[in-house]
Amino acid sequence: MFSDEEIKEMLVEAASQKVSAQLNIGEFCWFRNEEYDENDMSGDSYPFFVGKVKDLDEENELVTLETNTDRSPCNEYKYLEGPFQISKTMTMEYSEDAEEGIRDMIDLNELNHSTLLFNMKKRYVRDDINTFVGPTLLIINPFKKIPNVMSEETIERYMSIITAENMLQRKKELDPHIFSVAATAFRQLKENKQKQAIVISGESGAGKTESAKIAMKFLTALSSLSGEGKEEKKVEEGEATIEKKILDCNPVLEAFGNAKTVRNNNSSRFGKYVKLVFNLRRGDILGAETLNYLLEKSRVCKQSSEERNYHIFYHLIKGADLEMLKQLRLTVDDERPDYTMFNYLREGTDFPDDTVLDDKALYDELIQVFKDLNFTDEEQYGVWRTVAACLKIGEIEFSEENFDESGVPCDITNKNILEDVAFLLGMEDPHDLEVEIVNKEPMTGVTIRAPLKLQDCYDARDSLAKDLFNKLFCWLVQRMNLTILPKFMLKGGNPSQASTTKTIGLLDIFGFERFKHNFFEQLLINYTNEKLHKLYISAVFDAEKVELSNEGLGHCLKNLKYPDNTGVEVIKLLDEKQRIGQANTKNGICTVTDDFSKSQPRPNFDAIMDFVMQNHGDNPKIQIDFKKDKNRDKFTIVHSAKEVKYDIKTFIVKNVDSISPSLEKIVAAKGDDQISMIYSNFVPGIKVDEDEEDSSPRGKKSNLKTIWSKFSVQMKNLMLELAEPLLDLGEGNAKKKKAVCEPCELHFLRCIKPNELKVSDFFVDSMTLMQMTYMGVLESIEVKQKNFPYRRKFQDFFHRYEDLCNSTASKRYDTLVKEGANFKKLCEEILETCFRGLANGLFAFGHKKLFLKNELVLLMEKCRTKAQEKKAYAVDVIQRSFRIKMNNSKHHDKMIKVHRIQLFWRKREEMIRAAKIKKFIDKLKDIFRRTRIQVNREKFELESRKKIIKWMRLNVFKQKLLRFSLNGKIVADLFEESWLQIREEAELKTAVTVQRIFKGFLEKRKHDKAVKLGLKAKYDCASTKALRIIQKNFRGVLVRNRLRTLHHAAAFIQGHMRMRWLSTLFQKMRFEIRKIQRCTRKFLIRKKKMKERLMEFFPQEIASLENVRNVENYAMFGEPEEDEDKNNFFKNHTPYNLKKVNLFSQIVDVQLLCDTSDVYETPWSLHWLQLSQEMLTNDTPIQRISLGSTHTLAVNSKSKLYSWGWNEFGQLGTSPDEEMKREIRQGVSAAKQLSVHVDSRNPASAFGRVKQIVSGEDHNLIRDESGNVFAFGDNSKGQLGMGHYKEIHTPTRIQALPENSVKEISTCGNQNLACTTSGKVYIWPCVKEGHKISIPQCIGLESPKTKICSVSCGYNFGVLLSTQGLVYSFGKNNSDGQLGHGDRDPRGFPEIIDSLKQAGEKVEVVDCGFRHVIARTSLGKIYTWGWGLNGQLGHGEKFSELSPRHLNMDTKKRKNKCIQIAAGYEHSVVLMENRKIYWFGRNGTLLEPTYSPAKFDLTMKIPSIFPSSDQLGGATNPNIEFIVTKINCSWNKTLSLTDIIVADIRSLENITPHQIQSALKTLSNAWCSDEIEPPYIESISKYFSVNSMKKPTIPPKTKPKPKNAMKLSPRGKRRIY
Ligand SMILES: Nc1ncnc2c1ncn2[C@@H]1O[C@H](COP(=O)(O)OP(=O)(O)OP(=O)(O)O)[C@@H](O)[C@H]1O
Ligand SMILES: [Mg+2]
Repeated sequence: MFSDEEIKEMLVEAASQKVSAQLNIGEFCWFRNEEYDENDMSGDSYPFFVGKVKDLDEENELVTLETNTDRSPCNEYKYLEGPFQISKTMTMEYSEDAEEGIRDMIDLNELNHSTLLFNMKKRYVRDDINTFVGPTLLIINPFKKIPNVMSEETIERYMSIITAENMLQRKKELDPHIFSVAATAFRQLKENKQKQAIVISGESGAGKTESAKIAMKFLTALSSLSGEGKEEKKVEEGEATIEKKILDCNPVLEAFGNAKTVRNNNSSRFGKYVKLVFNLRRGDILGAETLNYLLEKSRVCKQSSEERNYHIFYHLIKGADLEMLKQLRLTVDDERPDYTMFNYLREGTDFPDDTVLDDKALYDELIQVFKDLNFTDEEQYGVWRTVAACLKIGEIEFSEENFDESGVPCDITNKNILEDVAFLLGMEDPHDLEVEIVNKEPMTGVTIRAPLKLQDCYDARDSLAKDLFNKLFCWLVQRMNLTILPKFMLKGGNPSQASTTKTIGLLDIFGFERFKHNFFEQLLINYTNEKLHKLYISAVFDAEKVELSNEGLGHCLKNLKYPDNTGVEVIKLLDEKQRIGQANTKNGICTVTDDFSKSQPRPNFDAIMDFVMQNHGDNPKIQIDFKKDKNRDKFTIVHSAKEVKYDIKTFIVKNVDSISPSLEKIVAAKGDDQISMIYSNFVPGIKVDEDEEDSSPRGKKSNLKTIWSKFSVQMKNLMLELAEPLLDLGEGNAKKKKAVCEPCELHFLRCIKPNELKVSDFFVDSMTLMQMTYMGVLESIEVKQKNFPYRRKFQDFFHRYEDLCNSTASKRYDTLVKEGANFKKLCEEILETCFRGLANGLFAFGHKKLFLKNELVLLMEKCRTKAQEKKAYAVDVIQRSFRIKMNNSKHHDKMIKVHRIQLFWRKREEMIRAAKIKKFIDKLKDIFRRTRIQVNREKFELESRKKIIKWMRLNVFKQKLLRFSLNGKIVADLFEESWLQIREEAELKTAVTVQRIFKGFLEKRKHDKAVKLGLKAKYDCASTKALRIIQKNFRGVLVRNRLRTLHHAAAFIQGHMRMRWLSTLFQKMRFEIRKIQRCTRKFLIRKKKMKERLMEFFPQEIASLENVRNVENYAMFGEPEEDEDKNNFFKNHTPYNLKKVNLFSQIVDVQLLCDTSDVYETPWSLHWLQLSQEMLTNDTPIQRISLGSTHTLAVNSKSKLYSWGWNEFGQLGTSPDEEMKREIRQGVSAAKQLSVHVDSRNPASAFGRVKQIVSGEDHNLIRDESGNVFAFGDNSKGQLGMGHYKEIHTPTRIQALPENSVKEISTCGNQNLACTTSGKVYIWPCVKEGHKISIPQCIGLESPKTKICSVSCGYNFGVLLSTQGLVYSFGKNNSDGQLGHGDRDPRGFPEIIDSLKQAGEKVEVVDCGFRHVIARTSLGKIYTWGWGLNGQLGHGEKFSELSPRHLNMDTKKRKNKCIQIAAGYEHSVVLMENRKIYWFGRNGTLLEPTYSPAKFDLTMKIPSIFPSSDQLGGATNPNIEFIVTKINCSWNKTLSLTDIIVADIRSLENITPHQIQSALKTLSNAWCSDEIEPPYIESISKYFSVNSMKKPTIPPKTKPKPKNAMKLSPRGKRRIY
């Protein structure tokens, strides 16, 4: 066919060419979509399309295609409309088998990406998610439950693989399944006595963990279903079996190591390798061991916006009972906390509902699992304490107010949290922890420690939380191992038993990752994947070797080529270590990063970049783009899956374990036993391999501090375990070598995620194809393609190239098949004919298949084309010669034919003529004969006819005669007979008729009279009826006429009457109108007069009000210079001799709403000053003032009440008739109106310590320490809640309110509200079903579960606050939108303020002004709504707000949160965390409306207490003597007051300013409600005087011992209000 030279030349040429698809006209083929976008995950971009080959241009390698319009299976891959031409290299063979979706894709006759993808898709749509490619199982995540996947029947069915005689055969019979792989591994373990490993890989959310669980379920079910070894593993009653315990580890690992990410709702944030240990002889499971890798620690402190922290935090908060949460100090106000309250959980998002992941149910499951895994109560409590401690650590806050680099560290502002953390970790002194968190690592030999900057403090805090959680996770793994490890693997076990066991490992490890920004973590993950990829390719390579050997081609093995080396090169680039004496080895990037991390001082990341450029700059696997990356902080690595750009800035930082050793040490050393064990990863009973101690993740004495050094060792060990076939051992020790020698058979599960949306029944081609490429599914096939890519059965090979076989030229292929020809021989003949031995080595004959190299395939195709061309030429020659021959003989043939035709025609014409003559003669003869016969016949016929007619007539006559005579006789008989009959009947009838007539006649004669009467009656009846009708009609006419007359008359009368009535009405109206006009005129004149009079009177009134205001303000605040004595008064009289902080109330603003000179004859301020000064002198300062409309009530620190003002209703607590008992005290004037009064009946006997006082218009309410409410004063409207309307002059308990449980009261005008500790709200007086009720009534809320914790009353409206931070409002006045519902409609019942709820705000405090409301949220944000005319909403506008509006106080800064709020009559006050007071609206100081928050300058108002720096001689940092701790407002019709509680700290000695600052801050933060006394906080109580701080009623318990900690109640912090 070809000459030898030609063949050699073609072979050389073919060796450099790519084989293009083998296509045939009329068949289908795949072709690449030129517009395919591999990053389009929407499912709209297809990588391949199907076309039908219309024409082939082999010379130019072009194919003409038309799209498939008729073929349904591939319809979705339709492409262009008409035929089009593309390059042949863009095409791929089409496999019809793939249309079926076959189980093992290695059986596809065309193996390329398009057929694999098509086959997988076909299977996926019918829920066949598992498909084999040779031994590798591809699993597509269905994102839905597929029925019976793990049922017992299925397990049993796949168990038959273990027992079947022909395992491969049985495997082929069953559908691909994870069980199939697991069963194969188990069978090989028993048969080959080799350890096995199932490597599961895939990207995040592809289903690795689920697949591992399915495999584990099968392997653990083996012994339980087979029943082998059951007797020897008897378990105690109630104890779980070892199989269950192994499976039980999964929920624990998932709770602590899994989290919701954008890619997977249950993403494993660590790698794991679980080894199941089997008894070799019996095959039953003995136990298991779990190894864990690289937990993502950073998630503990920070998550992306759509992600969650580790599941366990949510499980604990949502699932644990309240008691447990209290023990763990996680409750807020004894309530279950919301997860958003914790800094570490706030940033991410939870699931919108519990259906995706039910935290409560998972918590319950976890508790059960802990029990099954034999965790003791102490261990469980230790675990929960560590989890809670992590959360609490995140709450610690710092302040740099006192920070000094030379030695004063930052302060922890919430020490109580630090105490909680210390308690949870079992540390006795929180200070130990504090020192370590706020200071740097101690330098050797130096005692003073350098303090950390603010941000570093936060970093240290976070590093502690991360380290704690990581260590907890590692400890949990080890602790579970203790339960599930077989006895011989435990400490003290008999290691020799190991020889009778073998393991099956399940590796579920992170998949390849490429994000927008990739850091050190991604580098480690992708390094692992390179290793696994290499492992996979190596394993496939080994499988190839086995196939060649089975085909009897062992001799070809030495020529096998290893496919892509990218993986190996990248691994070297990352982890290679320079060896001494080997010049060609260079340190890898990770190795260098690690070296730099360990060196001191640590170099910058630039150093890594310099190193990479110097040593690996020419490595094609790394790319550094200088132009783009000016900062030289990024490089790209060409991974075997994809290129990934890494950000190296943080490489060194991330490689170093950020926790400082001293902090780590302190927790391990000072925590209690359980925490120490967890923290140092110590589990008694677990064997620590001394040789591996340094490298093992559980190594106790490990001093490896960098992530890489731990991780690389872990990876090395893992690869040793998996016995990576091509593992480069280097200079490893002998023991490791031995491990390598132990063979391990590998099985691969490759998980594929079909779409990014995590939904079922949605297959995105591009996404699946990308993963198949990542996973190297085709690369594994490439192993074959690099060697003998073309492998066909002999028969198939012959069928394609039969034209090249000479010996069978005369026989058709089908005949040869029928004859059973020896196709191997025929193939040999073809190859020999074509190449004459020149291509030996390019093909090999196996037992069943022919193996060909690429070059040879190309050559064969050329030979085939040439043979076909040759054949076509021969056919053409034959046809041509035939045609010439035909042309030559054509003329001769024609002549002969013409002669023949002529002869024929001539003969034919003669014959026709003779025939015609003969026919004519015959015809003449015939006519003559016929004429003669005719004449004779006519003659004869005439005669005959005459005779016949004659005879017939005769005959007819005879017959007629005969018939007539016969008929006549019959008729006569009949007639006779009928006649007789008729006559008989007629006679009978006549007789009857005669009889009837006769009888009638007789009857008629008998009743003749009656008949006549009847007839007459009939006639009468008819005439009467007619008469009646006539009468009726006549009467009708008469009545109608009369009615018509009546109607006319009535209409006439009505008209007349109406006219009369209207005229009267008109006259009356005219009269009334005149009256009204008269009155109006009078009123207008009077009004005008009054106005005139008022105009005269007002200036006087205003002047007098101004006068009173001046008097009040002068009395209260005076002029600093003039009133020197008063200025020094506080200093002299504040009780500093107690050496404690004292709290006293100081009024900072008095606003007069009307002229008070009638009510308080002496200015109000003077009363107040006298009282307050006297109280200060007695060390019992006034703590709270409450204003009624004409009276004032005050209470001092000893709970004594003072009142002054009017007493007409007994509102001063004494009978109006009684002579007023005046307080006999020095300095108090006995002026008439000064009625400062102490209840003579000793209020203490009536009620306990006063907790709250509120005054309505003319009544007061008092709440005491035990939660009872007392009332006195006016009761005309039932405002005292007693059930009667008599006024009461002494405080009397309101019986209708629950005893000892009122939590808060509020009143305004005559309206009162109270809420109880059980969350109920009472209101009085009120109207119920139209009746006024003065007894407190419980208000029903929409949900009975809603609990109210705070109430506040405005004028004719009320606001309630629930424990969940939701705000409800109601009231009959909503004119300014003070109810906050966005409208002005009143509400009879409390309704939730939706806008606040929807904004997700948790409100902590609300306070009502006259007609406006102010609220503070848990995050320190302020909302205001209602009346805004005077700027009391602070938004800079004077409009009222119908809905709550956020007041921007710049609270984003940590230090500037709002901590307290108060609403005055028409102003609001807020206290910020930095202790600055802001106010807005209008009051005695803000005389003009102030629409935006204005800073309140205390130095101006009360310089005696808060002197300005000028007064202190210009000192820039004056010693602080007084600090504001609380703000209050009280108002009624006459006055509005603003007061502050001031802490006097002058007397404190030996205490640093920042300590007292933080104590006061804690106090202010906690002192939010409307209480008189400050909250008792143990940690700060030592700084406060006994008067100010009430002692705890319940002494704190001693610290519980951790051993019984679960049973003991927690110690420490207790707030008593
Ligand atoms: N065989 C399956 N049948 C039904 N649903 C599955 C199956 N495999 C996976 N899923 C679904 O996909 C989700 C993700 O699976 P899985 O957690 O196993 O992914 P993963 O590969 O381990 O991901 P990661 O690497 O993030 O841990 C599962 O929560 C489950 O809803
Ligand atoms: Mg997982």
